[in-house]
Amino acid sequence: MNLLSGHARLAGVFGHPITHSRSPRLHGFWLQRYGIDGAYIPLGVAPSGFAAAVRALVDLGFRGANVTIPHKLAAFEICDAVAPFARRAGAVNTLIFRDGRIEGSNTDGFGFLESIREAAPGWRADAGPAVLLGAGGAARAIAAALLDAGAPRVTLVNRTAAKAEALARDLGGPIHVADRPSLEDAALLVNTTSLGMQGQPGLEVDLAPLPASAVVADIVYVPLETRLLAAARARGLVAVDGLGMLLHQARPGFEAWFGVAPQVDQALRDVVAADIPKRDGA
Ligand code: ATR
Repeated sequence: MNLLSGHARLAGVFGHPITHSRSPRLHGFWLQRYGIDGAYIPLGVAPSGFAAAVRALVDLGFRGANVTIPHKLAAFEICDAVAPFARRAGAVNTLIFRDGRIEGSNTDGFGFLESIREAAPGWRADAGPAVLLGAGGAARAIAAALLDAGAPRVTLVNRTAAKAEALARDLGGPIHVADRPSLEDAALLVNTTSLGMQGQPGLEVDLAPLPASAVVADIVYVPLETRLLAAARARGLVAVDGLGMLLHQARPGFEAWFGVAPQVDQALRDVVAADIPKRDGA
């Protein structure tokens, strides 16, 4: 049991609903590992109460909070300062309270890049073109991170082409839209859609044309091994699951609130993945 003192550092995660969030378990693991007098709690609040709840936490002396669905856009409005990458990503997922001011950032792009680097040591965004399936919020953060890290080309493939066109226009740079994935020279293929998630249809992509050095990543982490990742592994490619992004995106917030740069390792992964099926139906 964690007995908090009056000096305990406090943070949490805003969402609606929040019961399925794995962030309290993730941060709770780190708090215990590093022996920190602190707590990280789930903060379930409807959109109408979000702004008042954030201000209440500032008054209560919280260090900050994560923000998840459906508050990532509203979080923008409430910030006194928004980091440039969050502006580019179009969403805020991390709030830091400093001297009564609210600072917003977006760590999803960082989390994505770090999860790839963890799974494929030596991987570099500038090594080759990337193909992204999807054009929603996750695609926006990942595409922006890849472009910022020097990807020579980012191709968006989405069911609704107009959404991909708008995203490409918004971000600018070597990003364009295609109506089907062209994988022959791709260094990275990423699924940013919800296809492959438990209860959703699987993603049908023929990976045969990918170069042998390509990395295949999925942002879906329920199940851990989607059909896309299983196919990538069967072809001998590096396959990166969505759990890594979840774990790594949490690092900057934890460090800002609790003062320790936390490590992502197998013990953390096991704790957070304890109730996540390995495969669909498993
Ligand atoms: P997120 O913020 O998680 O990215 P989102 O903004 O709702 O969520 O985006 C979901 C993405 O998955 C979109 O690219 C969506 O395609 P559309 O833009 O055409 O809606 C894609 N997606 C969801 N369900 C899909 C399906 N059944 N087939 C193809 N694409 C799908």
